[in-house]
Amino acid sequence: MPFDATLETRLNIEIEATVATAPSFAKDVLAGLSAHPKTLPPMYFYDAIGSRLFEKICKLPEYYLTRTEHALLKRFAPQIAARANGNLALIELGSGSSFKTRRLIAALLAQQGGLHYFPIDISATMLTRSAKKLLREYPELLITAHAADYDAGLRRIAAEHFTQKLVIFLGSSLGNFEPPQALALMRKVRAHLNDEDYFLLGVDMQKDAAVLHAAYDDAQGVTAAFNLNILHRINRGLGGEFDPALFKHAAFYNAAQSRVEMHLRSSRAQEVFVERLDRSFQFAAGETIHTENSHKYSDAQILQMCRRTGFRLVQRWQDDKKYFSLNLLGPA
Ligand code: AVJ
Repeated sequence: MPFDATLETRLNIEIEATVATAPSFAKDVLAGLSAHPKTLPPMYFYDAIGSRLFEKICKLPEYYLTRTEHALLKRFAPQIAARANGNLALIELGSGSSFKTRRLIAALLAQQGGLHYFPIDISATMLTRSAKKLLREYPELLITAHAADYDAGLRRIAAEHFTQKLVIFLGSSLGNFEPPQALALMRKVRAHLNDEDYFLLGVDMQKDAAVLHAAYDDAQGVTAAFNLNILHRINRGLGGEFDPALFKHAAFYNAAQSRVEMHLRSSRAQEVFVERLDRSFQFAAGETIHTENSHKYSDAQILQMCRRTGFRLVQRWQDDKKYFSLNLLGPA
């Protein structure tokens, strides 16, 4: 790749101290593995390896989410872009590869000639790689990237001056939050918005449990590898002595809470030492580490969440099967 000076001037990357040094990883792993039942925050799936595995999940035949949302964006991005008043800034929570976002970026560039894009992602490597790729593709694009969690990223962006903003949160990542935390995040986004701003929320809908099971326990075992990577990460980052072969990926739909749960199940009683935490953790045979919740929503729930967080539903788009929805929200 030849050095491209104009590319460098159009890219500004800020890495949060907490992401760079990650003392929170040790703290969160200690708290999670000491809890009953044991848990680990899904945010830690996304190191460089985990982010690549997630990219692979997005291309699986069973994982309908990305494909369906991408088709919706492809089709409706011009309608969304038409809401721009000429100088709209695009802010994305959890941008990942920014693959789906291309549809919106292209539509906004067509609409207003230029665009300042503010991706926020926990993985600095993913952020840098995808930002450079975007800049090569779109000469009229400016990027200010924040390697940070959603909270820290939003705080940093609050310091900027915007004429109009579109905040986007795609892929149903909202579903990782417990309902009260999902509301809290929506309120936080709402607090950053003015009357003419928008929030585009991608939401996975409730559906047949068999479809969900397949999506979270794919035939090729990519989701299993993604789930187990969190143990490798503890081994690499914290001197953990997990034998990932002694844990099995488990994913099932919890209908009562309308969420897919992912766990890592210990296939036998064992004790695992983690050097950097200076302690070991006991596992009973069959005991699990709960690694992720992925909530699925109904139309009524989405409307209720909007009502409770100061949003109105401006417009929503869905695929024919109603598997997924794109929800354009505005301040109520
Ligand atoms: C990125 C949180 C939306 O819940 O579907 C994919 C993560 N976990 N397969 C999801 C995930 C297992 C994904 N989100």
